[in-house]
Amino acid sequence: MIKFNFWEYMERFLDEEKLKETLKRQDFYMNKLQQEELAGWYQEEIGNSSLEKIFECSERLKKQSDYLLVIATGGSYMGSFSFYEMFKDKREDSHKLVYIGNNLSSKTIRETLEFLEDKNFSVNVISKSGNTLEIKILYQIVQELLLKKYKEEEVSKRIVVTTENKDSFLKQEIEKHHYSWFEFPKNIGGRYSLVTVAHLLPLSFVSFDIKKLVNGFYDGKQFAKEAYYYAAIRNQMYQSSKFVENFSVYEPCAYYYTEFLKQLFAESEGKEKKGILPISTVNTRDLHSLGQYLQDGSNIIFETVIDIEMEEDFTFSNISMKELNNNIKQSVLKSHYQEDTPSIVLQVGYDLYSFGQLSMFFMLSVVFSSYLFDINPFDQPGVEKYKNELRKIMNQKNNSNFSLSKEKQ
Ligand code: PA5
Repeated sequence: MIKFNFWEYMERFLDEEKLKETLKRQDFYMNKLQQEELAGWYQEEIGNSSLEKIFECSERLKKQSDYLLVIATGGSYMGSFSFYEMFKDKREDSHKLVYIGNNLSSKTIRETLEFLEDKNFSVNVISKSGNTLEIKILYQIVQELLLKKYKEEEVSKRIVVTTENKDSFLKQEIEKHHYSWFEFPKNIGGRYSLVTVAHLLPLSFVSFDIKKLVNGFYDGKQFAKEAYYYAAIRNQMYQSSKFVENFSVYEPCAYYYTEFLKQLFAESEGKEKKGILPISTVNTRDLHSLGQYLQDGSNIIFETVIDIEMEEDFTFSNISMKELNNNIKQSVLKSHYQEDTPSIVLQVGYDLYSFGQLSMFFMLSVVFSSYLFDINPFDQPGVEKYKNELRKIMNQKNNSNFSLSKEKQ
């Protein structure tokens, strides 16, 4: 379930005539999306036989281990990680996910290895390109740990790789060690890969009902019009110098979902010196921090409030926390609107199906939004630039044990 409130806390900031003009282009952009090489997440659906293979593999991994270590970064990591954080309390299963690969902090790496040392774990290495620096290094570190614990043959059974079917570092490792592996779909980029094996396998390992997520995601296509409308409003915000969008939630478990959105929007839209900067707040915590700026600071921000409908209600002395949280939400919406910070409100059920729908809605919307900026939503040229600098530094120090080949071809 999603309910859209585009207007109530936005009205006086919108120019209806201009909005109508933008809306005329929707069919053109829908057709454009149909032609995109990297829109497999929208053009096709994951089949039952693929889902069966994911179940089979996760059942096998569950039998042999209590933990699944996911080695991944960027779009190959944010989807399953954010859903795990959001819904892990809702299931009855003792299996757990551990993540590594999105930093090169010595402290974090040591702590994770120490934690895993005496645990019974398997590994899912996920990288579309199969060449990402962090993943290559962390894979080798973890492989060494596994080899200390198990015989080589057993290690081969404990590593599953998800990568594209083309020559790469990981593909060579698959062949060398006979790992089982899944193909990362060629026509889906990392940050659009929520409903692919990249995220469904880890979520299946912790017994999430992935079919609900899959069904919700594809049913979310019914909101293509709303997604375009949202993109058109965002574009108007930008044209009126509101360059920052704050994704706001009132449930801390959804914090990493806002991180998922930040990654999706920033990496898709932030190009050619254009795009809206995504930030996020978790309230009530951030009412005592960024809240001051949102109320009183520069008029460069608008908000998208993700209003999650929780069933749970904690009461104390006849005070309902759910009601109190809702009352605060309403008062913040009103007081921000009275100043110069307008909001869109998206009401969503706290379940996998609804968040599947919401994720399709956001993916469609960021594509439309990028089209309105005349930007390609599917590439990330800026990400290559720091790597060129890194190559220079590594070459100068003559310190390249790991070849820094171009990751994206
Ligand atoms: O969304 C994207 O395309 C990126 O964030 C990638 O997911 C990220 O760079 C990791 O790439 P790979 O899966 O090739 O390791």
